[in-house]
Amino acid sequence: LNQWLLDTSAARNKDFVLKRFCRMLLTQTYWRLRLGALGQNSVLFKPLIIRSPGRIEIGNHSQIRDFARLEVIHRPHLGWNASLRIGNRVTIEQGIHVVCQGTVTIADDVAVAPYCAIVDTFHPHDPPDRLPRIGDRLPTEHTFVSIGEGTFIGMYSIVLPNVRIGKGCVIGAGSVVTRDVPDYTVAAGSPAKVISSFNADTRTWS
Ligand SMILES: CC(C)(COP(=O)(O)OP(=O)(O)OC[C@H]1O[C@@H](n2cnc3c(N)ncnc32)[C@H](O)[C@@H]1OP(=O)(O)O)[C@@H](O)C(=O)NCCC(=O)NCCS
Repeated sequence: LNQWLLDTSAARNKDFVLKRFCRMLLTQTYWRLRLGALGQNSVLFKPLIIRSPGRIEIGNHSQIRDFARLEVIHRPHLGWNASLRIGNRVTIEQGIHVVCQGTVTIADDVAVAPYCAIVDTFHPHDPPDRLPRIGDRLPTEHTFVSIGEGTFIGMYSIVLPNVRIGKGCVIGAGSVVTRDVPDYTVAAGSPAKVISSFNADTRTWS
């Protein structure tokens, strides 16, 4: 039984390596032509929805798993270029939803667990008596989200507009991040609050 389990898991692993290799070839040919920038060895899995690919930049050795929806809403008449920047060695697991109408930056070595949303947009609801369709309600000011180097975002978390998460942070599973998170802290909950932070002098978490 043990041998059989080992064999099947090795075979599954081999399948995955092959699938990843094929996806990488496809990404590096098709998506290199369509994205604003794409670094070496980065892979995008399918199914995938991408809006305004020319406004998306992805660094080297990054991977975006299946069921991703990356939407950039570019409205140049408002005076800025909407852009989504994903750094090097970024791992984004299944089902991510990114909406970007301003600037969304995901720095190097960030890991995003499955089914997270990172959105720099909202749907203004004022005035309440003459509202256009929800998709046409968008802010007219520049908004952003920034996630610092080496940060980990736990499963099913949501990062809301105008939030800066520092470097080396951990965001707990199922969190809703509504405010900035300082470097080297663990934040969790809805709204996310800091539950521990790293003391560089004593090199301990408290
Ligand atoms: C945030 C996290 C890293 C904290 O781990 P930890 O440092 O060991 O913290 P603890 O488990 O000791 O919890 C500390 C406190 O935070 C609370 N807490 C922990 N995780 C939380 C979460 N996700 N949401 C809300 N509160 C949370 C605990 O209830 C506890 O509160 P208390 O002191 O009032 O009892 C961890 O709970 C977590 O969410 N990890 C992400 C898991 C994940 O998404 N994995 C992806 C796999 S692909």
